[in-house]
Order: sequence, then C-alpha cells, then structure tokens
Amino acid sequence: MTDKATLTIGDKSYDLPILKGSTGPDVVDVRKFYGDSDLFTFDPGFTSTASCESKITYIDGDAGILLHRGYPIDQLAEKSSFLEVCHLLLNGELPTAEEFAKFEHNITYHTMLHAQFDSFFQGFRRDAHPMAIMTGAVGALSAFYADSLNVDDPKQREISAHRLIAKMPTIAARAFQYSVGRPFVTPRNELSYSENFLRMCFSVPAEDWVPNPVLTRAMDRIFILHADHEQNASTSTVRLAGSSGAHPFACIAAGIACLWGPSHGGANQEALEMLEEIGTVENIPAYVQGVKDKKYKLMGFGHRVYKNFDPRAKVMQKTCYEVLEQLGINDPLLEVAMELEKVALSDPYFIDRKLYPNIDFYSGITLRAMGFPTNMFTVLFALARTVGWISQWKEMFEDPSRKIGRPRQLYTGATQRDYAPFENRG
Ligand code: CMC
Repeated sequence: MTDKATLTIGDKSYDLPILKGSTGPDVVDVRKFYGDSDLFTFDPGFTSTASCESKITYIDGDAGILLHRGYPIDQLAEKSSFLEVCHLLLNGELPTAEEFAKFEHNITYHTMLHAQFDSFFQGFRRDAHPMAIMTGAVGALSAFYADSLNVDDPKQREISAHRLIAKMPTIAARAFQYSVGRPFVTPRNELSYSENFLRMCFSVPAEDWVPNPVLTRAMDRIFILHADHEQNASTSTVRLAGSSGAHPFACIAAGIACLWGPSHGGANQEALEMLEEIGTVENIPAYVQGVKDKKYKLMGFGHRVYKNFDPRAKVMQKTCYEVLEQLGINDPLLEVAMELEKVALSDPYFIDRKLYPNIDFYSGITLRAMGFPTNMFTVLFALARTVGWISQWKEMFEDPSRKIGRPRQLYTGATQRDYAPFENRG
C-alpha cells in the first residue's frame, strides 16, 4: 500500500500522507489540507473520520470483533473481572497479582463519598430520573475533591481516575436508593466491586443482605461488556470536553449527559420498554411492519460499527439465560425478545441494512430480573463506561500532540448584512 494519497482539485494536486495503524483501516492525514488548499473536509457524524489516535480499544465491525488492549471481549468477560479490565484499560496491561492487589486496594479505599455529598441528593425530586441525578452528582464531585483537579499533574490525574471508578457505584446506588425512598448504604471494603455495588443497591436495614454469586458474576460481566467502546458519542464528548483542559469530573459528567440519549446508552431502557409495548409474540408482525414503515426503530438493534454481529450481545444473551435460570424467572418478555430477534434476522429489511441485536437487546431483561427498574439501566452503563471514558481522557492528556478540539463547518446561512431597526424590518 502506498504511503500517500493524491487529491486533485481543478489544476492543483495535494499529497495527503497515509498513516498506518497496527490493525484496521489506515487513515488519510488531512491535518495540513486546509492550510494548503483553503478547503475543509466534510463528515457530519464522523462516518469516515478518525478523530484521534488511540491504543485502547479496537473494533472490527464487519467481523464482530471487540478488543481491549488486544484482548477479545469474550475472553475478558469469561475469564477476567471488571476491576482487572479497569486496570487493563487504564494502564495498558493486565496487572500482575501484586499490581492488582494494589489497584484493588486503591479503588476500594476511594469508594466512600464525602459525608456532605449525601445531602446533595436531597436537592433532587424523588421522581427525578437517576441519570439526571448522575449528571448533576458526578459534576459536583469537583466541588468535593478539589485536591485532584490539576490536570497537568499525572499523580492527580491518576487519583481522579481512581476516585471516579471507585465512587461511581456509590453514587449510582444512592441515586437508586433515593428514588425508591430507602436509606443510603455505606460501601464495605471486604466486598468485591460488583458485590459491593449490589449490596449498596439492594440491602435494607431491616434484614441481612445475602450475596448471590451468580448475580454478582452477572453484574461484573455486564460491567466488563460496557467498559469501553472506542470513539463512540459519549467518549468523543469526554475527549472534546477534556481537550480544553477541563478537569475529569466535568468531562465524565458531559459523557454521562451524552450517553443518556436514546440512540446511545438510553437504548437499553428503550429496548425493554419496546418489548413491554409489544407484550406478546402475536403482536410482533404488526410491530415489525411499523419499523419497516419507518414509524419507529427497533430499539436494541443496529450499530454504527457492527455490521455482522455485536460480540457483546452474544455474551449478554448467555448471561441473560444464566440469571433467569438462577432466579427461576420465566419472563414472557424473553420469549418476545427471542421471537423478535428470529423474525428480524430473517427479514430482508434488516438483512439488507445489516441490522443485528446489539448489547442493549438482552441487557434490559437481565437487569430487570436482577431487580433494577428500567430507569436504572443507563446508569449501570454509565457506571461501567466511566473507566473507558477516563482511560481515553488520560490517553488524550498523555498525547504530546493534544490540541483543543475545534471542528469546522460548511456554512449555509445568511451572508453578511447590516443590522436594521424594527421599523425597517419585514
Ligand atoms: N431499527 C430499524 N431500522 C434501523 C435501525 C433500527 N434499530 N437502525 C438503523 N436502521 C435503518 C435506518 O432507518 C436506515 O434505513 P434507510 O437506509 O432505509 O434510511 C439504515 O438502517 C441505516 O441506519 P443509520 O441511521 O444510517 O445507522 P447509524 O449507523 O447512523 O445508526 C444506531 C446506528 C445505533 C444509532 C441505529 O442503528 C439505532 O438508532 N438503533 C437503535 C438504538 C440502539 O439500539 N442503540 C444502541 C446502540 S449499542 C449501545 C451503544 O453503543 O450505545
């Protein structure tokens, strides 16, 4: 393959370097193109544009491959733990036993929140969506942990990263307990990350909380499956916010806000609500017809990058079955989901557009069985994705070529004109 592309416009030619990655498509470097040609490139939605260089996560959408630092997601989901994956994403390598013990200790001993932080939750209405609480509460962390806001200090960057990974479960559990009117539960240092989170969500003072290893493992696996996903909308939001030098608590709050949208992390809530709306297998054909008539989308289907299958969806489906079996739940929505998947995958509308179930299709049924209300689904996504966001944020800061993000535009509005007073308008 050649190392440059040549673009000819009229009688002028421009040589554009081609940069090679370790795997995946090479990129045409257009950084100097505007300076040389006075032209911008145009790519709304970034469908053909690499916005950064990264060593963290790789996706091959056609082959259905997702790698974190080179390790396939199914191997990590099967053999690793969420905290180990956090270390991998943040630091680039799987930890030695000694490194892991230190990392786990650091995270565990940052799980508590400043005591005054608890009063912050009281300012929200009880019926506030927990994602609204998350956006506000995570943004407010900077008001409580001002000693780790200097983004130019690598040690402070690391402490902020650890604080975010550690405190997200505590904040998420409080958002949940607050919305259901139950008292907040203090984290316990002897429990694992996921067990601690489940206890903070579901234990009540009136009785002892008994851990269920199958549910703890399922929670941990769900966190692993959501940990990072390359330059998606929320991650790009975090990078763009961070490019101005903003501290990580503000950047992660921005990521949470973006994630909440129904085309992104909000889809897990919408997918389950869609299954509830369909209700029974008999209603599927009419619902699918509505999709084909473009009245609405099939939530939990389709992906910008995966055009074959979503490797996370396969693990999620297996986890879903394990959880339902363990809890002895016969959820009629699972039957609807399986039939809907079958109908869609054999229909030319979906085949032609390469629309396959994504991770959100089965996660909702699993989380519901575990006792989470639908409005908590995206919160769990945000909790897990925090490590991906902060790893990408950290990578951006460590890149000496970092520049503030500043996209250009194709302007189609009014050209220059003079201001006119009221009497001269219209
Ligand atoms: N149901 C029905 N039709 C769809 C769907 C869907 N879920 N997704 C895409 N299409 C159609 C779309 O209407 C278009 O059809 P046509 O060519 O006739 O105009 C074609 O497929 C291409 O769609 P697109 O909008 O250009 O695809 P995109 O890459 O911009 O969108 C997506 C990707 C994920 C936003 C979209 O597939 C979608 O909205 N899916 C439903 C929401 C969802 O499940 N999101 C979760 C994604 S996975 C978790 C995450 O990473 O956040």
